[in-house]
Amino acid sequence: MQLFLDTANVDYVKEISSWGVLDGVTTNPSLVAKEGKDFKQTVLAMCEYVPNVSAQVTAEDTDGMIKQGEEYAEWHKNIVVKVPMTTEGLKALTHFKKKKIRTNTTLIFSVAQAILAAKAGATIISPFIGRLDDQGEDGMRLIEDIMDVWTQYGFETQVLVASTRHPRHIVDAARLGAHICTIPYDVFKKLPNHTLTDVGLKKFMEDWRKVTS
Ligand code: E4P
Repeated sequence: MQLFLDTANVDYVKEISSWGVLDGVTTNPSLVAKEGKDFKQTVLAMCEYVPNVSAQVTAEDTDGMIKQGEEYAEWHKNIVVKVPMTTEGLKALTHFKKKKIRTNTTLIFSVAQAILAAKAGATIISPFIGRLDDQGEDGMRLIEDIMDVWTQYGFETQVLVASTRHPRHIVDAARLGAHICTIPYDVFKKLPNHTLTDVGLKKFMEDWRKVTS
């Protein structure tokens, strides 16, 4: 399973990539706005740390998406063009597929949308599970349903579990065989920790000091 960081903060990318476990980054317009930094510079800085950086188009019509996406793809080979799940987006995906430009289809909330994006040639699809949970639905059930369909038809499109909220989401996504999980910084920082690891290490060190001091 590939692990991505869900952020537009370059310092966070630098820190987590130093652990040797980071495969990519997903940005979106809201995350970029939160940081208040230049979009192109942010994305290019991240490309120095990871081989996949999703950069979202902000045009809402196909021609505009194509224009922006082609420009992003020229900035750096590590950029993956993020396209919203709309009919205009589907047309743009088909174009990018022909041009061999990697894409990530964002804002997927149903199996039908997932199938359409895969058929249009998306490299990655991003079902948002946390936002479904937020409104009382079962986000992980959507991943289960998509992975079932993927098994039946062998779609090459990778399933990226997005809008994760806690470590259990990452574990459940892995158990279902999802290809990628994108994780917010504060959740990523929780992943290496376990109370028994801390207690065990403290005891090892205490015992070691007894025989060495
Ligand atoms: C994915 O690419 C999105 O950036 C992200 O996961 C959205 O998550 P949110 O629902 O926490 O905003």
